[in-house]
Amino acid sequence: MKVRKAVIPAAGLGTRMLPATKTVPKEMLPMVDKPVLQYIIEEAVEAGIEDILIVTNRAKSAMDDYFDYYPELEHRLEAAGKEKELEEVKRAADLANIFYVRQKETKGLGHAIWRARRFVGDAPFAVLLGDDIMRSPKPVIGQLIDAAEAYDASVIGVQQVSDEVVSKYGVIKARPLADRLFAVEDMQEKPTLAEKFSNYAVLGRYVLRPDVFDILENQTPGYGGEIQLTDGLKKLCPENKLLAVEFEGRRYDTGNLKGFLEATIDYALDHPETGAWLKEFIREKARGL
Ligand code: UTP
Repeated sequence: MKVRKAVIPAAGLGTRMLPATKTVPKEMLPMVDKPVLQYIIEEAVEAGIEDILIVTNRAKSAMDDYFDYYPELEHRLEAAGKEKELEEVKRAADLANIFYVRQKETKGLGHAIWRARRFVGDAPFAVLLGDDIMRSPKPVIGQLIDAAEAYDASVIGVQQVSDEVVSKYGVIKARPLADRLFAVEDMQEKPTLAEKFSNYAVLGRYVLRPDVFDILENQTPGYGGEIQLTDGLKKLCPENKLLAVEFEGRRYDTGNLKGFLEATIDYALDHPETGAWLKEFIREKARGL
């Protein structure tokens, strides 16, 4: 079955980026000249997604304002002959059919996804975390969709991470099936180094079959007192219903300061207005270090 819908959980409190995220959602922080969330929506659209549900909360209305028209601003830009800016401002509003639902209580990623059940209905759907930006020639979510459609299974995106950071992630125990494709045998959330199954970490992209909602509905709180998606997905493993794709591309966790700065530098180096200037600026700085 074709994957046409995506869910972007963006209702987290963003405590790793305080105080900046006290009033500005972390998904709306500027990544060079666009908010983080726009990169994620563009990835979904490029992979053929038409309808997107953003799971939001009461402090994040800047997100729905951004993906809407803004007539006063548009008229002003038009009158001033600022065509490029006008086009960019309108493009954001026309990217996809965007819907919103509030999580109401910050009970964890598994709970945020469960809030999407009415939007999703009974077809497989993509999940893109609202603070994970992926850079790759083929959209990362598209790589997962290909596997989900070919094998009629739920699929998670993984990459190998170092021992220094593995305890921050959901980790899989897996059996190779094909090039970059694994059958997931078990999962654990934020394991200690001694307990980890592997260094394959789950990194922000999923394609899920709607049977996950029945599992999430009855899921009890796990790590950190939150309803964890990993705990729910773990239940799919014994029935061989969960695959993992080792995706190609660079992932940035913009929800922490270092990841945010890495992404900012890489995107600014590639941007036509800032690339050459930033290279020179970095060279100059490095000479003084
Ligand atoms: P994170 O743990 O990365 O986000 O959750 P957070 O909770 O905002 O971050 P910190 O730790 O406080 O800095 C992973 C994803 O799940 C969403 C987040 O918005 C992020 O996209 N999430 C998390 C929800 O939508 N609801 C929740 O209750 C928790």
